[in-house]
Amino acid sequence: MARNVEKDALSGVETTGHEWDGLKELNNPLPKWWLWVFYVCIAWSLVYYVLYPSWPLGTTYTKGILGWSMRQEIADSVAAAKKSQEKYLTAIAAKSVDEVQKDKDLLAFAMAGGRSVFNENCAACHGAGGQGAKGFPSLADDVWLWGGTTADIYKTIKNGIRADDPDTRGTVGVGMTAFGKDGILNRDQIDQVAEYVLSLTKRDTDKAKAEKGKTVFEENCVACHGDQGQGSVAAGIDVGAPPLNTAAWMFGGDKATIVETVTNGRAGVMPTWAKRLDDTTIKQLAVYVHNLGGGK
Ligand code: HEC
Ligand code: HEC
Repeated sequence: MARNVEKDALSGVETTGHEWDGLKELNNPLPKWWLWVFYVCIAWSLVYYVLYPSWPLGTTYTKGILGWSMRQEIADSVAAAKKSQEKYLTAIAAKSVDEVQKDKDLLAFAMAGGRSVFNENCAACHGAGGQGAKGFPSLADDVWLWGGTTADIYKTIKNGIRADDPDTRGTVGVGMTAFGKDGILNRDQIDQVAEYVLSLTKRDTDKAKAEKGKTVFEENCVACHGDQGQGSVAAGIDVGAPPLNTAAWMFGGDKATIVETVTNGRAGVMPTWAKRLDDTTIKQLAVYVHNLGGGK
């Protein structure tokens, strides 16, 4: 077809022949680099179409000759992660909590696993960092009711405290005696022994009352709390009686709360976890909790 070639007088470039109000459109060729990029894109899309899933076909799609799928890739990486966990879980299952604690790799694995299980199951009562709340002991200090070794903590978690479990720690419903309610001590004696308990942490006390309270303490309290009020763990008694000579309090160390504890008694319950968590998970928790308390 013959072209009506017209050249622009100013630039010498051909025009397309279109004209608007005297303005003519120049017919500059496309830049070479732009054209090449364009061709490469077309070639790339053809290669991609052959190799990878691309065109939708109603309920299915062209799968491509490589057989790649995003779903398969995720399934593969999940399987790989499971497999690498498997190695650690098998090792933990075969070792004592103490051995796990001493193995650097297993310790790191158990700490991470323990933290996530703790946040899910324990934080509601013990706080997110195990810092405790009234009636729920702190697990982040080194004061223990039932012992702070890895084996102690493992047993506490596994069998619970005063819980529905044949091997539970303590006895269901039995804890700190209700000295007031049960008529063992009168109000004055409770007042005196509370003053004495305050003196164990070197606080201001009524000296005369505390002196009498010492006798009350020796006659009624040392059997569980130890002769120094050092707690049953330090005194080597297995009753879960906390130390009364540290700044850590489960229920409260102010006088009113001490009087309330001695009057009405306490018997905290910690559920048994053996029924809900598998043994490897409980071991990881024991390692995690042990290290919250300083890892000694
Ligand atoms: C329903 C509330 C509750 C939940 C949930 C709970 N605990 Fe406890 N836990 C307690 C109470 C209450 C005590 C104190 C029991 C007592 O008076 O001796 C305790 C005590 C403990 C102790 C003993 C502390 C010591 O000083 O000897 C450990 C260890 C412990 N819990 C770990 C855990 C772990 C780990 C979990 C999660 C798997 C957990 N607890 C979940 C309530 C709970
Ligand atoms: C039969 C053992 C036993 C005897 C005797 C006993 N206690 Fe306790 N005491 C416990 C136990 C166990 C706990 C922890 C209760 C719990 O975990 O719910 C406790 C807790 C306490 C607490 C709360 C501590 C805190 O951290 O808030 C105080 C205070 C206390 N006892 C004071 C006394 C005094 C004073 C006497 C003597 C008049 C006494 N106890 C006698 C077992 C005993």
